[in-house]
Formats: sequence, structure tokens, C-alpha cells
Amino acid sequence: MPSKILPVLAIWLLLRPAWSQSTGATDPGYNCTSTQSCWPTTSEWQALNTSVDGNLFATVPWAAPCYSSSGHYNSAQCSVIADNYANSTARSSIYGACETLNWETCSGTGCALESLDPSLPPLFQTCSLGSLATYYVAVQNADHVAATINFAREYNVRLTIKNTGHDYLGRSTAPNSLAVWTYNLQDMIYHETFTASNCPAANGKNIGEIGAGVQAAAAYTFFETYNMNVVGGNEGTVGLAGGFGQGGGHGIFGPSYGLMVDNAVEFDVVTADGKLRTINECNDPDLFWAMRGGGGGTYAVLTAYRFQLHPAIPINVFAFKASFSLLSSSSTLTSIMTAHANNQTNWSNNNVSGHAYYFPDQVEMYLVLPYNDDGAQLKSLTSEFQTFLTNDTSLTITQNNYTTYPTYSEFLALTQAIANRLTPGGDFEVIASRLLPRDLFATPSNVSALVDAVITGMQTNENVLDYFSKVPTQVIMTTPANHPDTQNATGLNPAWRTALWHLVYSSGWVKGISDFISDPITTTALAAVDPVKALTVGGGAYVNEAHFEEPEWEETFFGSKYDTLLGIKNQYDPTHLFDCFKCVGWRGANE
Ligand SMILES: Cc1cc2nc3c(=O)[nH]c(=O)nc-3n(C[C@H](O)[C@H](O)[C@H](O)COP(=O)(O)OP(=O)(O)OC[C@H]3O[C@@H](n4cnc5c(N)ncnc54)[C@H](O)[C@@H]3O)c2cc1C
Ligand SMILES: *[C@@H]1O[C@H](CO)[C@@H](O)[C@H](O)[C@H]1NC(C)=O
Ligand SMILES: *[C@@H]1O[C@H](CO)[C@@H](O)[C@H](O)[C@H]1NC(C)=O
Ligand SMILES: *[C@@H]1O[C@H](CO)[C@@H](O)[C@H](O)[C@H]1NC(C)=O
Ligand SMILES: *[C@@H]1O[C@H](CO)[C@@H](O)[C@H](O)[C@H]1NC(C)=O
Ligand SMILES: *[C@@H]1O[C@H](CO)[C@@H](O)[C@H](O)[C@H]1NC(C)=O
Ligand SMILES: *[C@@H]1O[C@H](CO)[C@@H](O)[C@H](O)[C@H]1NC(C)=O
Ligand SMILES: *[C@@H]1O[C@H](CO)[C@@H](O)[C@H](O)[C@H]1NC(C)=O
Ligand SMILES: *[C@@H]1O[C@H](CO)[C@@H](O)[C@H](O)[C@H]1NC(C)=O
Ligand SMILES: *[C@@H]1O[C@H](CO)[C@@H](O)[C@H](O)[C@H]1NC(C)=O
Ligand SMILES: *[C@@H]1O[C@H](CO)[C@@H](O)[C@H](O)[C@H]1NC(C)=O
Repeated sequence: MPSKILPVLAIWLLLRPAWSQSTGATDPGYNCTSTQSCWPTTSEWQALNTSVDGNLFATVPWAAPCYSSSGHYNSAQCSVIADNYANSTARSSIYGACETLNWETCSGTGCALESLDPSLPPLFQTCSLGSLATYYVAVQNADHVAATINFAREYNVRLTIKNTGHDYLGRSTAPNSLAVWTYNLQDMIYHETFTASNCPAANGKNIGEIGAGVQAAAAYTFFETYNMNVVGGNEGTVGLAGGFGQGGGHGIFGPSYGLMVDNAVEFDVVTADGKLRTINECNDPDLFWAMRGGGGGTYAVLTAYRFQLHPAIPINVFAFKASFSLLSSSSTLTSIMTAHANNQTNWSNNNVSGHAYYFPDQVEMYLVLPYNDDGAQLKSLTSEFQTFLTNDTSLTITQNNYTTYPTYSEFLALTQAIANRLTPGGDFEVIASRLLPRDLFATPSNVSALVDAVITGMQTNENVLDYFSKVPTQVIMTTPANHPDTQNATGLNPAWRTALWHLVYSSGWVKGISDFISDPITTTALAAVDPVKALTVGGGAYVNEAHFEEPEWEETFFGSKYDTLLGIKNQYDPTHLFDCFKCVGWRGANE
């Protein structure tokens, strides 16, 4: 650097705006598109392909074989795709699809099929990329990640990171981008004794290690062979190390062991400067803290995730299912949900978690306790509640039993089947959620206000949906209720720490219908959370399972951690190479 510009730089450093605080680097926009002269030439793409050992690919949407003009038409392949259209395993195994159609498509363009009958003629006139990246690199190692990052930086091209494509806010895809696709990073290692990198404080026992592409079911099975459980979720195709493990990661072990981020020990990452780093509480501790809960896609590309395992334990389940008349919907829902809420503090304190699905004329509930007995503990904690339900003559009960699953994999077969039935892939989905704190369960009048708010929201949500179907309102009891993070070890939204319920309204549609129909559905789903928001002013929602139009997203998704997270973002990614929608540091639609 010529010395004569130093005085200028010194003045500029004093006056620099907050967003460029640590390095003074500027943001080139990462907005070069394929129609512009800045877009890399064919030979430049080939050079990237060489540097990633031939793993660069032009994106082909999954259903391209079903579109006659796509250049990929193939009726045999098309019928296999149509048969698997709602199959999340199939969807997550290729780059050119997402879990929901919203983020595969873009404003009425894309390459989708009809969700209810995928064998019908395709949804759009022509097959286009929709929201998918133009090119993706099927990375096989961290060096491929670094080469991809360096290329995107050099050519001012938007970089996206896609793992399984489950993100409800569409953060794993963006048009005109170059994608890092982590599917092939499938390594799994069990460390009976673990030595952290330059960090004796982080040494431990029974540490699991997974590559960024490992999906939940595979991890559960693998570590079970060592008699170990993973703090995972209730569905097998979600990626544990990506959005799940960086944004929270809740499952039935939440009350017992906290969330996935609470169990994180060490990560291998590649930062925006292309540097490979092993980070933990000693090395780049701020970055490690931010990536433990501050959201995926924001600070660096993670390639390996190391985390605490827990001795395998039987999973006890109380399963209950009943239907009731729509005529008594409001009073029956109020009665059951009140009893549920009255018990919640006791259950959470005693490590009972699980899922309840409330419908206008049906309730389906799974109360879950990981506990080393024959189910007696769960029975004693839930027997009054069971008696209450069984005694309710307005219910037609179709399931009402206790089961002990010897392993988590066997338990997953239960929750996976429920997820396939109630939350399948391959349609257009919108959800809206809120974390509901302990205080709302304290007194009968608090519970009454809470139950009224939840049911009012359900009714609002359903009003616009009668032509679609009845959708479940999920009361998820997997919060880290006994893990307050008093040491500030994670960047997780503090609203999780006091929550007993993660309440999720679901909505959606099944065709590429016009905005005239989809906009009211989307807006109504967001309005459904208004009553519980009124009870939780300044409260939060789970960044991974929320409405994409959530207005005060900084406060809602990150709470009081936002400013610290933003400072760390700006330090490690000063030019905003990793920006994603409503992630820390996102500056709006026009960036
Ligand atoms: C059917 C279903 C069931 C679910 N069940 C649960 C549940 O039980 N518990 C729970 O907590 N959540 C659950 N979720 C939500 C889930 O946590 C999020 O969808 C999450 O974003 C998935 O992460 P992913 O990496 O698999 O998905 P992706 O959509 O591929 O990625 C999500 C985000 O993480 C980023 N990302 C991915 N990989 C990396 C990486 N290696 N480095 C940096 N950034 C990365 C992406 O850019 C994107 O921003 C569920 C979702 C669905 C659709
Ligand atoms: C790209 O982003 C930069 C920086 O924000 C901006 O100056 C430029 O106008 C953008 N280019 C286009 C084509 O939008
Ligand atoms: C990259 O190289 C591989 C292997 O030669 C090839 O199959 C692939 O089509 C190339 N990608 C592009 C975009 O040309
Ligand atoms: C879902 O897809 C996967 C991968 O393509 C396949 O192995 C599996 O059999 C499919 N499941 C069902 C129920 O068809
Ligand atoms: C909840 O689970 C944790 C982890 O197993 C255990 O330490 C704690 O004692 C349990 N709490 C109760 C009330 O059983
Ligand atoms: C929490 O930890 C982060 C990361 O080390 C730190 O930057 C922040 O100041 C801490 N916050 C509080 C309130 O201590
Ligand atoms: C659980 O709910 C049942 C039914 O309302 C009630 O009888 C019981 O007292 C509740 N238990 C607790 C601990 O609140
Ligand atoms: C929870 O409920 C059980 C069963 O009713 C009771 O024995 C126990 O004392 C309660 N625990 C708490 C913490 O309220
Ligand atoms: C059972 O229901 C009857 C009315 O139908 C009610 O009087 C009684 O208190 C209920 N018992 C329990 C244990 O809830
Ligand atoms: C008992 O509940 C389990 C869910 O845990 C369910 O799969 C099973 O079918 C139920 N059995 C009966 C007899 O209802
Ligand atoms: C709980 O109810 C009391 C009155 O019984 C009220 O003062 C308090 O604000 C309520 N708490 C919440 C979190 O709504």
C-alpha cells in the first residue's frame, strides 16, 4: 500500500460506518447475474470445475424430465419423480429440489408438478430454475468449499449454501447464485475420548462427529451402534449440522439435554476469506458462539460438526388420538388444551417432551419421556391427564396407550410416520410460530388467556383454508426448559430458554395458484400468531420454523443476542458474502 494514502485511510478509519467496523471492507453486492458481462465465461466456469475436481454442475430442476420442452424430457424418469413427489428422502438427495415448493419456484415460475396428483400435466408452461442456483458445487471436502467461496468473491456472484433444502424461509436457494451443496459430506466418527484442537477445556468423552451433509436418521443409527443418542429432531431427513445445528435444533431430548446447539463442542468451517478453521470455545470463540444458535448460512460454511452424545436410553411414549364434533370444537379444544397447559410446567420440569397436534375436530398427542424404566415414570406424570381424557364422553378415542421404544431409531419410525402424514414435502407451505414462556403457565388465569389466544389463532388460520384442508396446530414441547445457558455459551435466541411451548401454525396450498389466492393464506397464517404475540410482547420465535413475513425479525428470531451476533458477522464476513434472507446482517430485499 503506497504510504501517501495512509493519512486518508486513517481519517476514514475514524469515520467508518459501523457495518464495516473491523476490516473496512466494502460490499460489492454479490449481484452479478448471467445476463451481465461480469458473469464468468464458460472457460472461467471450467477453471472452477477443475479446482473442485469436476464437481461443478449446471442446475437441472428435479422435475425437468416431466417437461416436454426442458431438454431433459423422459417419461420413465418422470413417473419415478411423480411417485416420489412428497418423499423428503428423494427431495433432499438431489440439488434441484427443496422440501417445499415455495423455494424451488419463484413468482409463478419453476419446474414443479401438482402436489395432489403429480401425474397430471406439469404446473407451469415451461421448466425454469425458479429460485434454484444457476450452478452448484457438490463439494466433497473443505478445499472445494474454499475454492467455491473464492470464486464467488472474485466474480461478485451470490453464494448460497444448501444442505437438505428444508429451510422454511427459503434461505438455502437464491436465483443467479452459485451454490455450495453439502450432501456428499457424509463422514461420521465416534470419539470415545475426544481431544479438541488447542483447547483442553473442550476435551470430552463420547463426542460425535458428522460431516455437514449427514441427515438425522443416519446419525441416529450410526451412533446407536456405540450405544449413544444424538440430540436430534423428530424427522429423519433434516440435516443436523446445517440449519438445524446452527439455528437451534430441538427434539425430544430438549428438556433433558438442551438443544443441538447446547451440545456443540467444535466445528470445522470455511470463512468468507476462504480460510479453513477449527473453531471451539478457545479458537475463534466469538465465531463459535455465533454459529451455536445464531442461524445457518450467515457466518461461514460449516464442514464438520462435533457434539456431545448421551448414553442410549429407552423412549417412553403416551400416545393419544381422538376426534370430536366440529359443533363442540371450541369448548372441547379449550378443555383439553387447558388440562394440557396446566400440566406443562410439571412435565417440562420432569423432562417430559413431545408433540401435540390440535385440529378443529381432532387431537393427536405424543408425550415423550426418555427414561430408563418400563414406562412407570411417564405413567405417573401423565396418569391424571390420561384419566381426564378418557373420562371425556365427547371424545371418540382411537389411540390411548403407553409404549416403550427400546431405541431412538424405533421411536423415530413413529415420529417419521407422523411427519410423513401430517407435514409431507412437495407442496407449498407457510408456517407461523411463537415461543411461549413459562410465565404464561403460572396461574389458572394465565392458562386461560393462553388457551384462548392459541384457539383464536387456530380459528383465524382455518378461516381462509376451508377449500384446502384442516391443518394441524402443533404444540411442541421440546424446549430446553431445564437449560438456561447461564454461562452465555450459545448465540441462541434467549426466548428459547424460558419457553415451554413452541407453537406452530401451519398453512399452505397445493397448486401454483395465483397470488390472489396464496397471499390471503400467507397473510392469514401470520395473523394467526397475533393473539399469542399480544401475550408475549418482545418475545421470540424459532428462526428455523417461522413465517417468512415475520416483521420484526431481528428481535423475534435473535432477541437480545442480535447486536452481538451482528458484530461477529461483520468481523468474519465484512463484505456480506454470506447474506441470506432475514439472517443476521440481512439488509432487505434490495441488496
Ligand atoms: C419436515 C420437517 C421437520 C422438521 N423438524 C424439525 C425438528 O424436529 N427440530 C428442529 O429444530 N427443526 C426441525 N425442522 C426445521 C429445520 O431445523 C430447518 O428446516 C433447518 O433449516 C434445516 O436445516 P438443513 O441444513 O437441513 O436445511 P437447508 O435448507 O439446506 O439449510 C438451512 C439453512 O442453513 C444453511 N446451511 C445449511 N448447511 C450449512 C452449512 N454447512 N454451513 C452453513 N450454513 C448452512 C443454509 O444456507 C440455510 O440458510 C424441520 C423442518 C422440516 C421441513
Ligand atoms: C450491485 O450491488 C452494488 C453494491 O450494493 C451496487 O452498487 C450495484 O448497483 C448493484 N448492481 C446491480 C446491477 O444491481
Ligand atoms: C465439471 O466436470 C465434470 C467432470 O468432468 C463434468 O461431468 C461436469 O459436467 C462439468 N461441469 C460443468 C458445469 O461443465
Ligand atoms: C423415498 O425415496 C428414497 C430415495 O429415493 C427411496 O429409497 C425410498 O424408498 C422412497 N420411499 C418411499 C416410501 O417410496
Ligand atoms: C432430566 O434429565 C437430565 C439429563 O438426563 C437429568 O440430569 C435430570 O436429573 C432429569 N430431571 C429429572 C427431574 O428427572
Ligand atoms: C456472550 O458471549 C459473546 C461471545 O463470546 C460475547 O460477545 C457477548 O458479549 C456475551 N454476552 C454477554 C451478555 O455476556
Ligand atoms: C394435569 O391435568 C389433569 C386434568 O386436568 C389434572 O387433574 C391434574 O391435576 C393436572 N396435573 C398437574 C400437575 O397440574
Ligand atoms: C408433578 O406431578 C407429579 C404427579 O402429579 C407429582 O408427584 C409431582 O410432585 C409434581 N412435580 C412438580 C414439580 O410439581
Ligand atoms: C369425569 O366426568 C364427569 C362428568 O362427565 C365429572 O363429573 C368427573 O369429575 C370427571 N372425572 C374426572 C377424574 O375427570
Ligand atoms: C399405541 O401407540 C402407538 C404409538 O406410540 C401406535 O403406533 C400403536 O398403534 C398404538 N396401539 C394401539 C393398540 O392403539
Ligand atoms: C399472569 O396472570 C397475572 C394475573 O393473574 C398477570 O398479572 C400476569 O401479567 C400474567 N402473566 C403473563 C405472562 O401474562
